[in-house]
Amino acid sequence: MQEHIIPHHFSVDLEQLKAIKNHNAFLIWFTGLSGSGKSTIANALNQSLLARKVHTCILDGDRVRKGLNSDLTFSPEDRKENIRRIAEVSSLMVHHAGLVVLGAFISPYEIDRANIKAIVGEDKFVEVYVSTSLEVCEKQDVKGLYKKARAGEIKDFTGIDAPYEVPQNPSIKIDASKYTIEEAVSLVLTYIERKLNIN
Ligand code: PPS
Repeated sequence: MQEHIIPHHFSVDLEQLKAIKNHNAFLIWFTGLSGSGKSTIANALNQSLLARKVHTCILDGDRVRKGLNSDLTFSPEDRKENIRRIAEVSSLMVHHAGLVVLGAFISPYEIDRANIKAIVGEDKFVEVYVSTSLEVCEKQDVKGLYKKARAGEIKDFTGIDAPYEVPQNPSIKIDASKYTIEEAVSLVLTYIERKLNIN
């Protein structure tokens, strides 16, 4: 299938995009349990970046699984495909649109997170591990999903009857139960400041 695909050489490059956008492009990937605070921190960070005129796009599990990936379940194979597609889309946005992409997905498998890095490029990948404990996530149970998972109404629920592999070497680790949202955003902003390199 791939043998007859010969890519066109588009001339726009990252330097040109940087000159227009006034900042570098890369992917900030939030991983952690359901209800850990991934999307909340990503959303607040997005607002801070937009206030600084950074061009962004935010993607999260609930949104992407309602559209692009509505054909996928939560089996290990489908989670892999979910993350692969999102990584490819993110890579297009980083390399061809010059955006700072914020992705908030459980992405429970180390191998799939390594694949994101390979797709988007190591120097274009920042991994934020939102390490809020299962105990806290389950106690808060904002969406009521943990209760359903415990009752057996949802199968393959991360942390209950499906695994979450803890990132071994994340760029940043944030336990959202120990920081305010503003503090969490500030931790990420401090880390990415030089990488952003705003003109
Ligand atoms: S994954 O593992 O990366 O493919 O998951 P993701 O695409 O991020 O989707 C996670 C959101 O889907 C809801 N949900 C579940 N999560 C985990 N396990 C199961 N079985 C499940 N079923 C539905 C849940 O609302 C997740 O949203 P967040 O924002 O993480 O709470």
